[in-house]
Amino acid sequence: TLEQKVDALLESMTLEEKVGQMNQYNGFWDVTGPAPEGGNAEIKYEHLKKGLVGSMLNVVGAEEVRKLQKLVVEETRLGIPLLFGYDVIHGYKTLSPIPLAEAASWDMEAIKNSARIAANEASAVGLNWTFAPMVDISRDARWGRVMEGGGEDTFLGSQIAKARVKGFQGEDLSKPNTIAACSKHFAAYGFAEAGRDYNTVDIGTSTLYNVVLPPFKATVDVGVKTFMNGFNILNGVPVTGDKILQRDILKGKWGFDGFVLSDWASIGEMVPHGFAKGLKHAAELGVKAGSDVDMESSAYVMHLAENVREGKVNESLLDDAVRRILKVKFELGLFDDPYRYCNEKREEEQLYHEDHKAGVLDMAVKSIVLLKNTNSILPLKKDQQKIAVIGELANDNNSPLGSWRLGSDNHTAVSFLEGLKSYSENYSYVPGPKVFNGNPNFLNEVEVNTTDTSGIDEAVALAKNSDVVLMVLGEHGFQSGEGRSRTQLDLPGLQLDLLKAVYEVNKNIVLILMNGRPLAINWEAEHIPAILETWQLGSQTGNAIAKVLFGDYNPSGKLPMTFPRSVGQVPIYYNHFSTGRPNPESTVFWSHYSDEKNEPLFPFGYGLSYTSFNYSYLQIDSSDQDSIKVSATITNTGELAGEEVVQLYIQDKVASVVRPVKELKGFKKIYLEKGASQKVEFNLTEMELGFYNHNYEFTCEPGEFAVMIGTNSQSGLSGSFVKN
Ligand code: IFM
Repeated sequence: TLEQKVDALLESMTLEEKVGQMNQYNGFWDVTGPAPEGGNAEIKYEHLKKGLVGSMLNVVGAEEVRKLQKLVVEETRLGIPLLFGYDVIHGYKTLSPIPLAEAASWDMEAIKNSARIAANEASAVGLNWTFAPMVDISRDARWGRVMEGGGEDTFLGSQIAKARVKGFQGEDLSKPNTIAACSKHFAAYGFAEAGRDYNTVDIGTSTLYNVVLPPFKATVDVGVKTFMNGFNILNGVPVTGDKILQRDILKGKWGFDGFVLSDWASIGEMVPHGFAKGLKHAAELGVKAGSDVDMESSAYVMHLAENVREGKVNESLLDDAVRRILKVKFELGLFDDPYRYCNEKREEEQLYHEDHKAGVLDMAVKSIVLLKNTNSILPLKKDQQKIAVIGELANDNNSPLGSWRLGSDNHTAVSFLEGLKSYSENYSYVPGPKVFNGNPNFLNEVEVNTTDTSGIDEAVALAKNSDVVLMVLGEHGFQSGEGRSRTQLDLPGLQLDLLKAVYEVNKNIVLILMNGRPLAINWEAEHIPAILETWQLGSQTGNAIAKVLFGDYNPSGKLPMTFPRSVGQVPIYYNHFSTGRPNPESTVFWSHYSDEKNEPLFPFGYGLSYTSFNYSYLQIDSSDQDSIKVSATITNTGELAGEEVVQLYIQDKVASVVRPVKELKGFKKIYLEKGASQKVEFNLTEMELGFYNHNYEFTCEPGEFAVMIGTNSQSGLSGSFVKN
């Protein structure tokens, strides 16, 4: 059996070799040539040859990986193959939309397919492991990494997490085109205070159990092979050193049998956190807490054996970690063929494959959200005359790739203008004022121009003489992602000034937004007749937007995160609790702001279509208490065929731990021809109706439940039932 093979190998390993399996190094050098002088590359090279490394990150290419694998397989005593991991977040070469955009599709098959495409390409360049999906729930649009997750909601986030794991890992992990997935960041990284990346997390246990942990648990249920912990502390303890999270909950209660990887140097970072006295102590705390692999802090390789010899760490903890790591290596088929993922022919065939382009285009059109469409100004007619296109981002083939595009090539997105060209020749373009200075890149802060207004006059002149103005505005792809938090949620630079100036001369505007997080766009939402949220859509950006603009795809996306009216409302999310003073009063003594509404600009689950849908006939049948049935009839009442995401929300009215005013517990995406109707039914079991109580036990308490079936989190048909 697999267990016997693992045990036999473990039996033959020295203490140092065990530590080696738990050590991961970053690559970035030519492994066949001499190691560069200085730095620690030379040490890494020596460690590889001695079997002191179990996995690598950031080494790619069938040839490169093969050489390194060969070095380890042929020169180390036991020849245990390496794992090769990489941040394949939304594609390798061919890029899908950023994950937050994909989440807006609410289409699990499309999301799974997108991850499949990513795995096809990644596995063709020698990789057998991706550091994805990020399943962190976040309610704070300031946090740059919201672009990498499934949004603010636990239920939706859990479905997405499962779809992505299934897409990466496929049915059979040993196939050469499937790779191990990694649920990250365990846990609560998305709750960084004030939205500042790497910052303190301090949340209550009800939020931890009911909001943060379920998407992680969902990935364990579908067999995810690895987990990554994180940079953050959680309620005073760095998650990397948190035994309750990693040993008690993940490996204990949930029975996770894969391994846990640290985040980059997060074992070492327990020192500046003030949790470990030094690197040696950090190694001790990390392994005791259940962090099996040390990414790039060298704490394990330098100090773990010593800790064992001194009796500070029991060797059985290392045995457990190594067993888990070897098991994944066996499952990937690396012991049968260490070069399984190194196939130059596949590499040549798979990268930027035509099928992948078609797949990410499908994902991209489904990710677009129509936020406003007054007087049905969209879709544009294909023979539309005199189109003005304004905005620097319209001509950008780099920014729409987002910030997690490590394996891809810069400037390979189809720009908005290129996409438009295939539909219309009747357009003129001016960029307007400079928005982003220089050449934004992965390592540096994006510099925004806030002073040079040149370009506005030219844009206004063009708009004056046009029938319709397409304003392409938003954030740069490198303004969201890791280390890219913002304190403002507006359009960067002079873009709003530009929009206002154009609006003065031509009100027939379609605002095409490109951004990696929810934005606060009050003025825009009030004045501009049509707004299309296109996020960063990856390789096929321009083609996807053009398809939607001209009505070849009827938009069906729904927001996976609330859009605030102002940054001061953040964190803002639909499934909040009631306060003791929820209702407007004639005095000031109720829960509200003096200068802004409580309500968001666009709620969670919101998104329009070129057609319209009517909800009727809510039926609730609670006769079978184990499976309460709630249904409604949806009718396409508009002029076009279209898709609708039908959403089911519940509220447990009174409970031993207060429950949110609303919680998503089901959704179905349906397609309806013009005039067609469909009954959509949901079953509610204790799984959906229950929650984690004050003792962290999952329970379903009897009582009254409100239920709503609707088109977004704020509007629908409501009823109630009693659960005995
Ligand atoms: O996988 C990432 C992680 O999400 C953030 N820090 C770096 C890791 C490896 O690149």
